[in-house]
Amino acid sequence: PKVVFSGIQPTGVPHLGNYLGALRQWRKLQDEAAPDDTLLYSIVDLHAITIKQDPSQLRQWRKEMLASLYAMGLNPDRAVIFCQSAVPQHAELMWILSCNASMGYLSRMTQWKSKLALPSNANPLDPSPANKAALKLGLFSYPVLQAADILLYGTTHVPVGEDQAQHLEFTRDIANGFNHLFAPSPSAPLLVSPQTILSPAKRVMSLTEPTKKMSKSAPDPRSRILITDSKEEITKKIKTALTDSTRGISYDRESRPGVSNLLDIMYYMDESVASSPEALAVEMKDVSLKALKEKVAETIENSIKDVREKYEAVMNEEDKHDGYLAKEAEEGATRASKLASLTVIKVKEAMGMI
Ligand code: TYM
Repeated sequence: PKVVFSGIQPTGVPHLGNYLGALRQWRKLQDEAAPDDTLLYSIVDLHAITIKQDPSQLRQWRKEMLASLYAMGLNPDRAVIFCQSAVPQHAELMWILSCNASMGYLSRMTQWKSKLALPSNANPLDPSPANKAALKLGLFSYPVLQAADILLYGTTHVPVGEDQAQHLEFTRDIANGFNHLFAPSPSAPLLVSPQTILSPAKRVMSLTEPTKKMSKSAPDPRSRILITDSKEEITKKIKTALTDSTRGISYDRESRPGVSNLLDIMYYMDESVASSPEALAVEMKDVSLKALKEKVAETIENSIKDVREKYEAVMNEEDKHDGYLAKEAEEGATRASKLASLTVIKVKEAMGMI
């Protein structure tokens, strides 16, 4: 049987990059799961605090993320949906793994370097004062916590966007290194090496800077569409999306990143519009950019309006019965914790701590 695990940070309502790159895949795996498969989807608040968070904001964002997951069709009867910080084994296994994680390897990870806004060739272990002040231990060891998340459950499959591929590679290396040291025999590994599942839309780009990925942390809110945006907001954001002054429509991610991103978004939101983003470009080759944008906005609206409506319904329910979302997540955490403790016990036994 499969064990599927994935996580998302509670940093507000998810955007189309999260949706196309990960969440839609989460739902597909849930809908196609066999009865004995296990699915776990976590709101990774311990990861979120690697950068400064305001407590009341974080509380609100956890709630919004939970409501977003339910609105997407993720179902607590079929998947274990929980907040990471409610399952103490994540932090516990992280410590154990960190005793075997190489600083050199971690210093080559790109995600946290981008969070520090360091140039990609900067050495994070550089002891200059500016660097030392900015650098937090938790941010540095972020990938070890992510490896713990995954390895705690014997995960076989991890659906993520492309930006997480490096962390998954790291996770496999940590698992193999750990097994090498502590597994009783190579045929009985303690930790399962997981497979990465990249969705077809693995890298959705920003609407305002289409050479960068769409991200929650970009300062310009027009750079991303949230899955709860109204029709008017969607139309406005697509209208102001950066394109180019070439006539007609064509697909080329290098020379026409803005137009290609719009074609990608339209195609992946509704694959019935064409057989590929390139084919969609051929079909629309004589159309104006303005008309393309109208079509893109309409396609987005049609495929996510159900999510927006369901989100509103879930939030209304929460307003009527305060704590309903928290209670659901607590049940998820109890189930997750039971599963996680099995791995922690095995690991401790193998290491001589039980
Ligand atoms: P996070 O919260 O940044 O993003 C959640 C998921 O959305 C994907 N994603 C994208 N996909 C395509 N295009 C984009 N522009 C885009 N932006 C985001 C991400 O790849 C991710 O799948 N470290 C993780 C969270 C995490 C995790 C885990 C994931 C913690 N533990 C264990 C998997 C397994 C993160 O920050 O994702």
